Amino acid sequence: MTVLEARNVSKRFGGIAAVDGMSFAVASGEILGLIGPNGAGKTTMFDLLAGSVAASSGEIRLMGQDVTRAPAHRRLAGGMGRTFQIPRPFPELSLIDNMLLARQDQTGERLWANFTAPRRIAAEERAARDKALALLDLVALRRLADEPARVLSGGQRKLLELARVMMADPKVVLLDEPAAGVNPTLLEVLIDRIREINASGVTFVLIEHNIDMVSRLCHRVLVMASGSLLCEGTPQEVARDPRVIEAYLGGTPA
Ligand SMILES: Nc1ncnc2c1ncn2[C@@H]1O[C@H](COP(=O)(O)OP(=O)(O)O)[C@@H](O)[C@H]1O
Ligand SMILES: [Mg+2]
Repeated sequence: MTVLEARNVSKRFGGIAAVDGMSFAVASGEILGLIGPNGAGKTTMFDLLAGSVAASSGEIRLMGQDVTRAPAHRRLAGGMGRTFQIPRPFPELSLIDNMLLARQDQTGERLWANFTAPRRIAAEERAARDKALALLDLVALRRLADEPARVLSGGQRKLLELARVMMADPKVVLLDEPAAGVNPTLLEVLIDRIREINASGVTFVLIEHNIDMVSRLCHRVLVMASGSLLCEGTPQEVARDPRVIEAYLGGTPA
């Protein structure tokens, strides 16, 4: 089953085609890698999938629905989670509060429900807190739950970002350079957690420059160059494809 699909999607910024006729499908349960030299259009492709940037042309489908014109929050509610290349947690809020802010549609947000269903709200608050703590535990951050997010290292922020996106129970998660700035020990935690969450049925698409991580995690890899799909295959296949080697050598140096 296809969870996410791009059909001939393009995005132009002025004269530049940042994404130029991209078509691909993401199968339920897979971990798909998206690689390519700097400036290839990978982050713009994520922006188009997540709805933070509108496509100039083409179609995006999520769980079989056309979401091309749906705003980001509707895609989030439809099962799409997304992390950012540079995570920006609220620095003065505790980790747990940063997590609780990521909740979707909790009853407490509706003012009227506070008067009519206080007990249900208290129960939901408790459940959300328990879920946030369990997710912080999963990414080895539970002991810091009450600390402000500013104390976290860059790598720990990436882990918090992964835990935060899981609060909304996404079906497909887009990870933008999850390994960047993460030390080797935390990287192992991150890889294990992505595998574990994937085994529970969550689909992943990840942009990553760390080829070791890509080959260990990804079932399949798409290579982008100059806004287009250059080739696809297993991590081993794309690593030895001469077109891929040339795209990296000819591309903007990192
Ligand atoms: N908001 C924007 N306005 C203008 N140009 C942009 C914008 N975002 C990205 N671009 C351009 O689109 C191209 C692809 O960028 P990007 O998607 O960030 O690539 P990648 O993530 O693969 O490094 C680059 O040439 C970049 O300069
Ligand atoms: Mg990028």
